[in-house]
Amino acid sequence: MSSQDKSEVPEEHLPEVPASAHVPAESDPFADPGLPAHEPRRTDIDEKAANRAERQVAFLFVISMLATIGFIWSYVGIDKDRIIDIFFFGKIGAQNAALGGTLGIALFCIGAGAIHWARTLMTDEEIVQERHEFTSDPETREYAIREFTQGASDSVIGRRPLIRRTMIGAMALVPLSGVVLLRDLGPMPGTKLRHTEWKPGKELINEATGLPIKPDDIVKGSLTMALPEGLVEKYGPAGQKEELSHGWLEKAGMSAILLVRLEPKDVKSKKELAWGHEGIVAYSKICTHVGCPIGLYEQQTHHLLCPCHQSTFDLADDGKVVFGPAARSLPQLKIHVNEAGNLAASQDFAEPVGASFWERG
Ligand code: FES
Repeated sequence: MSSQDKSEVPEEHLPEVPASAHVPAESDPFADPGLPAHEPRRTDIDEKAANRAERQVAFLFVISMLATIGFIWSYVGIDKDRIIDIFFFGKIGAQNAALGGTLGIALFCIGAGAIHWARTLMTDEEIVQERHEFTSDPETREYAIREFTQGASDSVIGRRPLIRRTMIGAMALVPLSGVVLLRDLGPMPGTKLRHTEWKPGKELINEATGLPIKPDDIVKGSLTMALPEGLVEKYGPAGQKEELSHGWLEKAGMSAILLVRLEPKDVKSKKELAWGHEGIVAYSKICTHVGCPIGLYEQQTHHLLCPCHQSTFDLADDGKVVFGPAARSLPQLKIHVNEAGNLAASQDFAEPVGASFWERG
């Protein structure tokens, strides 16, 4: 029905509209309640109270500084093996307890100081900020700078040098806790990574049998793994493992070698032949790429293949890299036959074994 038709309907035939259905156009169900009137705090009107609050905030920051110093002292001054018994927690490491406690206090006091500062001394007047366009015009930017300056002034940081200095002190000291933790990275390796357990005269021990190796034990086409004497795991008569010196596994990993027998005529390098014994040559078992143990030997090509990233070394040519990501040759160990007829090292490796990284150290 059009409005024309509707206007022609007699009044008495129109449905009755309840009075409650009429909403005055000017009523607003969500009227802006406005901001409550600002009530000044004690510190706003009493300078003594404000000064007291300032000292309280500074006190918290000073406690934080002392706790950070305590943290550093705990790290260097408390024996890390010392155990203490604390009620409820039971037996725990004294150093861990001290580190956790002091760092907790340092951080808590910075937080508590900042909250106390904000609640007592910074302005607490509520401010309404209208939404505006993302791109601000020069006037708005000027306004923002003015507001920022006002905010800095309201925070009283300019007028309260005690708070400013102690807060800067507390914030500057806390990161030191992270610096001292660097000690946990362990001692510097020094030249340790340049040396292995091989010494002049040390016999080569077969890793599988635990026995010294004679030249006849090395047959063409096979790969023999060996370690210096004293680093091969042995078993007693009852099958029990015999104790090895502390850190033997790491030393064995660094010193592991493999032996192959080559036809002397196939060897391209004179130095390689001179460092071996009648075609038997010894090379580090640790890949010079990132240090995987190598174990795949191709008898026909004399190539040694690393299973990790396929670096390939030519054992008939000074262990040079012929393929793959390794950046340098496999180190060769100089060997000889001793009076007992066993293979022995003539010296330590002439260069670092393992990943090329160590060569740059
Ligand atoms: S570790 Fe041998 S190729 Fe990467």
